[in-house]
Amino acid sequence: MKVGIITVSDKGSKGQREDLSGKTIKETVKADSYEYVIVPDEIGDISNTIIEFIDKRGCNVVFTTGGTGLSPRDVTPEATRQVIDREIPGITEAMRLESYKIKKAALLSRAVAGHRGKSLVINLPGSPKAVKECLEIILPVIPHALEVLTKGSAECGGN
Ligand code: MTE
Repeated sequence: MKVGIITVSDKGSKGQREDLSGKTIKETVKADSYEYVIVPDEIGDISNTIIEFIDKRGCNVVFTTGGTGLSPRDVTPEATRQVIDREIPGITEAMRLESYKIKKAALLSRAVAGHRGKSLVINLPGSPKAVKECLEIILPVIPHALEVLTKGSAECGGN
């Protein structure tokens, strides 16, 4: 599996903040290979990078981290919606509801998940703590999602 990591951060993209969240994704998600970049909170940069990672570099799953909240510069969900074929709301609903048990402000993440062709795109919040917590919630469903996307069907009888 090839995983793309897009850290969305104005400061990070200017080298003004160390990116611990992208690092956390790489340490938490086991993959054969990774693509990684930091981009500013700009819709075009985010959308184009998701397209590049999937269409050109063959990522099976692209995680973004950051820019999912209510700040004026938070546009990751809008950028994601522009480049996915269909949303997979259950992934982010679970992320928010399970995270709410840990942090009430989890409801303020407008994160979006969906697929582009046979690849998944999942927004994660920006803090390393949130990244770790959210990955724990959603990682179990990723193999089945990819199986259905790549084979067109899967044995759905299990958990
Ligand atoms: N989800 C989890 N699991 N843990 C967290 O600490 N932080 C919340 C939320 N989701 C958080 C979380 C907060 S404080 C915000 S503002 C939103 O994510 C959006 O964060 P972002 O703008 O960095 O994406």
